[in-house]
Amino acid sequence: MKPSTVLYKDASVPVEIRIDDLLSRMTTHEKVMQLNQYTLGNNNNENNVGEVAGELPAELGSVIYYNDNPDLRNAYQRRCMEESRLGIPCIFGYDMIHGFRTIYPISLGQACSWNVPLVERMTSYAAAEGRMSGVDWTFSPMIDVARDPRWGRVSEGYGEDPYANAAFCAATVRGYQGKSLADSTTIAACLKHYVAYGASEAGRDYVYTEVSPQTLWDTYLPPYKAGVDAGALTLMSSFNDISGIPGSANYYTLTEILKNRWKHKGFVVSDWGSIEQLVNQGNAADKKEAGLRAFNSGLEMDMMSHAYDKYLEELIDEGKVDSVLLDESVRRVLRVKMLLGLFEKPYTGNHPDRFMRPDALSAARQLAAESMVLLKNDSTGILPLDGVGRIAVIGPVAKSSASLQGSWNGRGVYDETVTLYQGILDRFAPEAEIRFAKGSDLDKTTEVELAQAVDTACWADVVILCLGEERRWSGENASRSTIALPEAQLQLAEKIAATGKPVVMLLSSGRPLDLSQMEPLANAIIEVWQPGTAGGAAAADILSGDVNPSGKLAMTFPRSTGQIPIYYNRRGSARRHQGFYQDIPSTPLYPFGHGLSYTTFVYGEPSVSSSTFRKGEKVTVTVPVTNTGLRAGAEAVLWFISDPAASITRPLMELKHFEKRELKPGETTTFKFVIDPMKHLSFPDADGNIILEPGDFKIIVGPHTVNLVME
Ligand code: NOJ
Repeated sequence: MKPSTVLYKDASVPVEIRIDDLLSRMTTHEKVMQLNQYTLGNNNNENNVGEVAGELPAELGSVIYYNDNPDLRNAYQRRCMEESRLGIPCIFGYDMIHGFRTIYPISLGQACSWNVPLVERMTSYAAAEGRMSGVDWTFSPMIDVARDPRWGRVSEGYGEDPYANAAFCAATVRGYQGKSLADSTTIAACLKHYVAYGASEAGRDYVYTEVSPQTLWDTYLPPYKAGVDAGALTLMSSFNDISGIPGSANYYTLTEILKNRWKHKGFVVSDWGSIEQLVNQGNAADKKEAGLRAFNSGLEMDMMSHAYDKYLEELIDEGKVDSVLLDESVRRVLRVKMLLGLFEKPYTGNHPDRFMRPDALSAARQLAAESMVLLKNDSTGILPLDGVGRIAVIGPVAKSSASLQGSWNGRGVYDETVTLYQGILDRFAPEAEIRFAKGSDLDKTTEVELAQAVDTACWADVVILCLGEERRWSGENASRSTIALPEAQLQLAEKIAATGKPVVMLLSSGRPLDLSQMEPLANAIIEVWQPGTAGGAAAADILSGDVNPSGKLAMTFPRSTGQIPIYYNRRGSARRHQGFYQDIPSTPLYPFGHGLSYTTFVYGEPSVSSSTFRKGEKVTVTVPVTNTGLRAGAEAVLWFISDPAASITRPLMELKHFEKRELKPGETTTFKFVIDPMKHLSFPDADGNIILEPGDFKIIVGPHTVNLVME
C-alpha cells in the first residue's frame, strides 16, 4: 500500500479527515478500547488501589503512567504501535498537580500569590519535566471552587472564589499546553472535577452535593468555562452526585453545556471508578447500566471502572448505545492524540537533565515565597528577623520534607526538599547560632519532648515554631472534622509562649486552619502552606526580609470549625445586623484577601472615566497606590464589584479583576480596571442565560468604593 493511501498516518492531511479515515478502518472492539484507561507502572496513590497492569492490550486508549522513566512508556507504546492492527498510539496521563519532580506550592498557595504569569511559567516547567518523562497529559488543574476547609481537597484548588479559580485555570492551561501540543515539552491539561465537587456536604469527600442550578452557574461553572476558552483539551467528570444526577452521568453538564453550548472538542475522562460508583450512588442497578448512563450522558473515557471495556459492545449490539455516538466519542479521543502529535512522535526521547532545572527551581522558590501569607506581625516588629544571635527552631514540621511537599507530590523526592530547618540554617548560620528541638509529633507529645523544647526556647533570642499538618491530612479522601491543629501542638505552643521569648509561627497546612487558640501565642504568624521543593529556602527568604511577603489569602480563615462555611462572596442576609452566632464574632479570623507586608501601601482616591454609562460602553477605574514604607514590596490589588439590587440576588461583593506589581519605597503606581459591562457586571440565570440589568453598581478597591450607574 502506498503511504499516501493511509490517510490517518499522514500528518499533512487535516486532522478530521485523518480521523474519518481511521474510524472507517476500526472494528467496534477497537473503537471501544480507545475509550478505556488502565494503569501502567507502580501505582503510588493510596486512594486508587487498583491493578498494576502487566500485560496491557495493545489496543488500549490510555494509561495512567506511574513512572518517570520514558523507557517503560516507550516499551508499552511500542506494543500499541507495532502489535495492534492499526498502530494507534496510547495517551499517557498522570496526576501532576503542583509539579512533577520539582514540586511547587499546592494550588491553594499558588492562588495566594496572585501572580498569574508566574503560575503560568511554573506549569510550563512542570509540563516539560512530565512530557520528557513519558507523560502526555496531566490531570490538572483542579478548579473546584471550595468553601469548606474540612474538605481535604481545598489544597488542590485555587480557593473560594470563582474568578480566581478561572484566572489560575486559564493560566495553567496556557502553561501546560503551550503554543503547540506537539512540542516535546507541552502536555494536555484536564479540568477537574467537572463539576461542583467542591460543594461536598460538610466537607466529606465523594458525597452528595446539593447544588442549585443558580449556584452551578454562578459559582462552579465559570472556572470551567475559562478553561475551555483557554483551549483545555480534556476534562474529568466528578465523583459527586449533583442534586440527584451524578457528575459522571449528567447529560446537562457533560453534553448540553460542555459540548452543545461551549463547543468543547476534546474528551471527558471519568474519575477513578466513578462510572461503577453510580451503583453506590443509586443511579444505576449494576455496572452495565452505569456504563450505559455514563456513556449516553457524554462521558468518553472510562478510568478504571471496566464498564466500557466490558459492556459497551454488548450495549451497542442491544441498540442501547448508538454507533454514531460511539464514533463521535472515539473521534474526540483520537483528535486529542493527533493534536499531541502522538501518531508522528509516539515515543519519548532521552533527556537525562530534565529534572530540577535552574529555571524550575528558581520559579519554585519565588512562587513558594509569594504564596506565603504573613497573617500576623505584632507591634514588637519581630519580623523580618534582623541581627538575631540565637535562633531556636522548634516543632514537628521543622524537619519534615513530607509536610512541605504536601499531597499529590507527583514524582517529588523528599530528600530534594529544603526543609524549614535547613532553609533557616542556610540563611542565618553562621552569624546566628541555631538549635533545634522537636517538641512534639504532629499529634502527640511527651513531657520530655516539651521540656527539651522549653529549654531550647529559653536559650534563644527568638523561637521559630514550625507547626502544621501531615501531608496526608489534606488532599483526596482527607476530610477533617475540625480544622484546628491537634492538642499536642497547642500544648507545645502554650509552653513556648510561656517562656516569654518572641515567637514566630510557621504553619504548613493544606487548608485554612482554626487559629483562634494559637493566634495569641505568637508575635508573628506565616502561613507557608505546603510550599514544595524550595519551601524552606522560601520561608527563610520571608523570615529574613530578603523577600517582602506579598501573599494574600484566597480562602477565608474561620474563627472556628463551627463557623464554616464562611466565605467572602456570600449573599446578603435579610437582617444585616442579626442572625449571627451568639458565642463568637460574626467576622472570620482572617478574611479573604488578608495578608501583611513589611512595608505599607496606601490606596489614593480612585478616578473613574465616567460614572454614568450605557450597556455597550466601557468604563475605566484607576487607583493610585503608594509604597509609603522603607522597603520595596509587591502589592496585589483586588477589584470587586457589587450589584446591590438585581432581579436575581448577587453576592455582596465579587472579585472581577486583580493585578500584582512591585513598588519601590516611595513609589506610586496607578492600577487600572477596565470594566466591560457585559463581562463584569452581568450575571447568569439558572440556565446560564446572561443577564445585564441597568442600575447602580459599586466598585470596591482597597478601602474605597466607587459608585457607578448604568443607564
Ligand atoms: C482520583 C482523583 O479524584 C482524581 O483527582 C485523580 O486525577 C484520579 N484519581 C487519578 O489519579
